[in-house]
Amino acid sequence: MTDISELLLSKIRDVADYPEPGVMFKDITPLLADPAAFTALTDALAEVADRTGATKVVGLEARGFILGAPVAVRAGVGFVPVRKAGKLPGATLSQAYDLEYGSAEIEIHAEDLSGSDRVLVVDDVLATGGTAEASIQLIRRAGAQVSGLAVLMELGFLSGRARVEPALAGAPLTSLLTV
Ligand code: PRP
Repeated sequence: MTDISELLLSKIRDVADYPEPGVMFKDITPLLADPAAFTALTDALAEVADRTGATKVVGLEARGFILGAPVAVRAGVGFVPVRKAGKLPGATLSQAYDLEYGSAEIEIHAEDLSGSDRVLVVDDVLATGGTAEASIQLIRRAGAQVSGLAVLMELGFLSGRARVEPALAGAPLTSLLTV
């Protein structure tokens, strides 16, 4: 494991039985509260933005906002939020996707992306991959390209990578940690 992986992993707190019994929640708030770890994470994700030629960062509500906004500033590109349905005031594109039980819907302000944009999607966790896959579809429907998907951690046992890779169509998936 690299030094940065060890640093990041050491700052993620496991919370048993949250938000429901049987789930081990990965709490990133200790990492955010540690300036060295948060800076290292921001730098690592901004390096992905640079390497993939991103012109925008899209962050996924809610923890993807916390990570994506400083990454956009560090990379010198704009930030665009993907929000849960009903939260954006302007003209939106919406994308529904399946959850284990039921479905969810996310939205983006299409006018914040242009046909010349290359977008890096940033989030904290890749779990089943449903949120990331739907976000990629939104970006493409807005007419922009996807430069990649970058997450702090990937929950390998949920196989999100297999779900998002077809949507990424060759763009790289970067996860700094696999747990
Ligand atoms: C979590 C996480 C990702 C998503 C990953 O967000 O931050 O955005 O779930 O899950 P998936 O790969 O199975 O789609 P959540 O929906 O809990 O929203 P929150 O950050 O607003 O709590």
